[in-house]
Amino acid sequence: MVDSASFKGRDIISMRDFSREEIDFILDTATGMMPLAEKGSDLLKGRVMAALFFEPSTRTRLSFESSMCRLGGSVIGFAEPKVSSVAKGESLADTIRTVENYSDVITMRHPSEDAAKIAADAASIPVINGGSGPWEHPTQALLDLHTIRTAKGTIDGLTIALAGDLLYGRTVHSLAVALRNYDVRCYFVSPELLRMRQDVIDDIEGNLDYTETEDLRGILPELDIVYATRIQKERFPDPADYERLKDSYLIDEAFLAGAKKDMKLMHPLPRVNEIATGVDATPHALYFKQMRHGIYVRMALLALVLGAL
Ligand code: NCD
Repeated sequence: MVDSASFKGRDIISMRDFSREEIDFILDTATGMMPLAEKGSDLLKGRVMAALFFEPSTRTRLSFESSMCRLGGSVIGFAEPKVSSVAKGESLADTIRTVENYSDVITMRHPSEDAAKIAADAASIPVINGGSGPWEHPTQALLDLHTIRTAKGTIDGLTIALAGDLLYGRTVHSLAVALRNYDVRCYFVSPELLRMRQDVIDDIEGNLDYTETEDLRGILPELDIVYATRIQKERFPDPADYERLKDSYLIDEAFLAGAKKDMKLMHPLPRVNEIATGVDATPHALYFKQMRHGIYVRMALLALVLGAL
């Protein structure tokens, strides 16, 4: 049976580590956090969260920090590795062994694919992966699921397109793996070069009903959710490929004329060119509301791994 005790002391590294029951428990806990996000709480009073951000971040870092503050806890950390001893050549494992003396939970973002696992192995306190290179971004997947469940009342039964950079985009890796636990139909929409990573395909095969396509327009009338993503410029080995593919999917109001009335458009943000600002005021736009769910989900995760519930 899954209960709060199942999460105490646990790392949140990959969506591969969580069952449907566990995911649903986290989502229910996040829903329970919604009133606390408004009025504040002292559930985590006296506890300290370290936020170690080795890569640019706006939403993930600030929502983790805000979540900790809303639960009465405190935050230390850095958003720029140049100011830490990493700049002197300290290893990630040694940085983690240091920071665990000063905090009760570590949230981290890092450009390396293995960083989250290395940190979790080095730490005796819970580590929460806030993005590990192109590999995974599990807390984003959980907030995406919470957004979908809140907007649609269900996740099961939906037809969902993940579109854009499915090779380098870590949010879609975690989301696809999470969705294998639900009864959904998925389209993976990308240019040929940016098709879904093979290790994700291997992990969902047999559990998720998916189709790969390059054609978003053709499937649009079927979709309940379009999850658009940024083409990950910083991860392209060849800048010429980025230039060629950067505007593969431009969603504007005219494009959305072919969508169901209640189709919801999501995006982990930041957007570059994927969604025209004209879409923002349409009933399809869910991407700004989506960010708020980061608070509920991260409050839930912090409270759970710190054993406060
Ligand atoms: C994403 C990320 O960092 O992976 N941003 C986020 O956390 N909301 C998406 C991106 O950078 O494209």
